Amino acid sequence: MPEDYSVRQIRAEQVLPLRSLVLRDGKPLDECVFDGDSLKTTLHLGGFIDGSLVSVGTFLINPHEGFQGKNQHQLRGLATLPEYRGRNFGTLLIKRAEEILTLREAELWWCNARVSAVGFYKKLGLIVYGDEFIIEGVGPHRVMYRVL
Ligand SMILES: CC(C)(COP(=O)(O)OP(=O)(O)OC[C@H]1O[C@@H](n2cnc3c(N)ncnc32)[C@H](O)[C@@H]1OP(=O)(O)O)[C@@H](O)C(=O)NCCC(=O)NCCS
Repeated sequence: MPEDYSVRQIRAEQVLPLRSLVLRDGKPLDECVFDGDSLKTTLHLGGFIDGSLVSVGTFLINPHEGFQGKNQHQLRGLATLPEYRGRNFGTLLIKRAEEILTLREAELWWCNARVSAVGFYKKLGLIVYGDEFIIEGVGPHRVMYRVL
């Protein structure tokens, strides 16, 4: 990990500004809340550089009907600020999440990947599952998963 980049657990409300900016076209923060955000079992991670939050991602316990394995988590709301992309920050956040999920004895995690981000997830070892589908107002997606 670069010396000045660190990933740590953050509170649900801390992820909202980046979620809004990167994933929801600047919508009001209260419209960027996901079901389950405030559950104790939900893991919100933030990537910080020099104390500034530049990446966020949220893992919620949510088994997918297509997969086997206990303690499945769904990744939602992964975002890196545009000016910080391509510096491995998203990858390092996911790697840290996988360490935590392994401690939780999770056997698999999955996400609804935007088609534009499928290449990113493939580099992380995720596998595409099923057909492309549309999430209303967001666009085309693929389910992707990784066995831990
Ligand atoms: C997807 C996203 C989170 C990646 O964050 P990041 O911090 O730039 O990721 P990294 O720097 O760790 O990228 C790791 C590798 O994936 C590549 N990569 C990043 N985004 C990619 C994409 N959309 N498609 C293909 N490859 C991608 C990087 O070039 C890098 O490749 P390298 O290892 O050969 O250098 C970021 O681009 C983003 O916020 N995008 C907009 C929101 C979004 O689509 N989120 C995902 C919703 S499912």
